[in-house]
Amino acid sequence: MKQTKWWKNAVVYQIYPRSFQDSDGDGIGDIPGIISRLDYLKELGIDVIWLSPVYQSPQDDNGYDISDYYAIHPEYGTMEDMDRLIREAEKRGIKIVMDLVVNHSSDEHTWFTEAKKDRSSKYHDYYIWRQGEKGKVPNDLQSSFSGSAWEWNEETEEYYLHLFSRKQPDLNWENPGMRQDIYRMMNWWLEKGLGGFRLDVVDLLGKVPDEKIRENGPRLHEYIREMSRETFQKYDIVTVGETWGANVDNAKLYSNPDGSELSMIFQFEHIVASHSKEYGKWKEAEKDFVTIKKIFTNWQKELHGTGWNSLFWDNHDLPRAVSAFGNDGAYREESAKMLATFLHGFQGTPYVYEGEELGMTNVHMEDLSQVRDIEARNKYKELKKEGWSHEEIMASINHIGRDNARTPMQWDDTENAGFTTGTPWIGVNPNYGEINARAELADETSVFHYYKNLISLRKSQEWGEVLMEGDYTPWLEEDEDIFLYIRSLHGKKLLVLGNFHDKERKIALPVKIKTVLLKNYAEIQLQGDEISLRPYEALMAEVV
Ligand code: GLC
Repeated sequence: MKQTKWWKNAVVYQIYPRSFQDSDGDGIGDIPGIISRLDYLKELGIDVIWLSPVYQSPQDDNGYDISDYYAIHPEYGTMEDMDRLIREAEKRGIKIVMDLVVNHSSDEHTWFTEAKKDRSSKYHDYYIWRQGEKGKVPNDLQSSFSGSAWEWNEETEEYYLHLFSRKQPDLNWENPGMRQDIYRMMNWWLEKGLGGFRLDVVDLLGKVPDEKIRENGPRLHEYIREMSRETFQKYDIVTVGETWGANVDNAKLYSNPDGSELSMIFQFEHIVASHSKEYGKWKEAEKDFVTIKKIFTNWQKELHGTGWNSLFWDNHDLPRAVSAFGNDGAYREESAKMLATFLHGFQGTPYVYEGEELGMTNVHMEDLSQVRDIEARNKYKELKKEGWSHEEIMASINHIGRDNARTPMQWDDTENAGFTTGTPWIGVNPNYGEINARAELADETSVFHYYKNLISLRKSQEWGEVLMEGDYTPWLEEDEDIFLYIRSLHGKKLLVLGNFHDKERKIALPVKIKTVLLKNYAEIQLQGDEISLRPYEALMAEVV
C-alpha cells in the first residue's frame, strides 16, 4: 500500500464516548449517539475522529481497561453500530481512529484470568510477575493511580505489575507471542477500514520494572518498529502515540518521516511545565507564558522536516483548555479563540477535544461523591492521609482533575444539555444554558464558528500549504503577554498574533498587515505599525 501523508493537513476531533451523546436514555453516551452527531462534526470541518476506547470493558478506568479487544462494550452499542459508525463517517469524509490500549489489559481479559490461575498457562507470561512474599512488594515502583504498582495474586503466590489501577495489569511486551496476538487484533480492526490508531501510553511498552524504568525503556523503539511493520505500514493510516516521556530527540524516532514508527506523538512538555516536583499536577505552579512559548518554539524548530508535531491544549485527561490556559470568566469567548489561534497557526496536526470548540469550561465539584474518575478518587485518599484538608483536595481536583473534561457534551439548553433523557453518569456542567452547541451554531461570532473558520483556513488553497509546510519565525520571545510568529512559504506570509493575558498591550509590528483573515474582536486597532491588543485579542493576517 502506498502511504500518503494526508494527515498532515488533517484536523482531528476527540470523542470521549461516555460523555458525547446518549441515544437510549441510560445516561451513558453511545455509538448510535455519535452517529447522530456526525453532521455537526462535518459542519465543524474536521477530518478524523479519535474515539476513546469503546471495547468491552469493566470500565474501571472508563474503557482504558479492555477485557475483549474484539467486542464493543454493551453500554456503547454493538459491533454492527461500530461498523455503521465507520461507514457513516466515511460518507462524510471523516475517518475513525481508535484508541489502542496495549500497555495493559483489564484483569477481566481472559488472558489475565487464565494467567493468574496457573504459572504454567501459556498466558501467564503475557503479564509481568515477580515472586515474593505476601506483604513485601518487589520494589517501590508506584502506580500512576496511587499506591504500589505491584499487586499480590493468591493463586500463584506472586506479584503482578500494574502501572495504572490494579484492574489494569501490564502486558509483557518481551513475549513475542503476546506481541503477535496484539498485531493480529490490530490488523483485524484495520481491515474494517479504520483511519488509524491513537496508542495509549505507548512509551511505557519497554518498561524495565526491576530497574524502575517506566518510559523510554531500551527495547521501546524496537517494539514500535515491529508493530509498524506488522500492521501500520500495510495501510494508509494515521498513528499517534501518547508519550508523557518524550523529548525532541526521541520524537524524531517516533515520527520519523520514513514511516518506520508512527505518524506523530503527543508530547506534554507545555502541560507538565507547571507541575510541581513533589505533587506533580496536584500542586501546580503558576503558568509561565514565556516558558510555554519557548517550548512550542523548540518543538516547531526541531521537528521541522525531521518529524511531525501534534498540537493540543486539552484531552480527556486534562482540564478544559479555556480554564487551564485562558480565562473562563469575563473573557471566556475571547480567550478560547485566542488559544485556538495560538495553536492552529503552528506546523502539525491540531486536535480538538469535544466541547473545546464551544469553549466548555471546568466544572465545580463540592464532594467526592460527585467525582467519577478513579485517578482523582484514589488521589483523594492518598492526599487525605498526607494531611491535606477536604477543601484543599477538592480545590486541586477542581483545578486539574480529569472529570473536568468528562462532563457531558453541551448540545443545547434543554434538560441535561441534550446529552441524555436519563440520569447522566456524571453531572452536567450547570453552565449549559449559556454554553451549548445550538446557541453557538446560531451565532456567527461564537467560539464554534471561530474554530470552523480556523479549520477551513487550514483546508484552503490559499493558506493550507503555508500552514502545513511553511517556515516558522517567532518574535518577542521574551514578552510575557504577547505571541507573534510568522509562517512563510514561497513568499507568502501568515502572521499569528495575540495577547495571552488580560492586560492591554501596544506593540510595534515587524511586518505590514495586508489582510486580516481571522480575529476575535470586531475591529483591530492599528495605527501605523503599532497595534493595540485588548485582553486576549488574537488574529491571523496576511502580511508583507
Ligand atoms: C492514558 C489515557 C488515560 C488512562 C491511562 C491508562 O494516559 O489517556 O485516560 O487512564 O492511559 O490507560
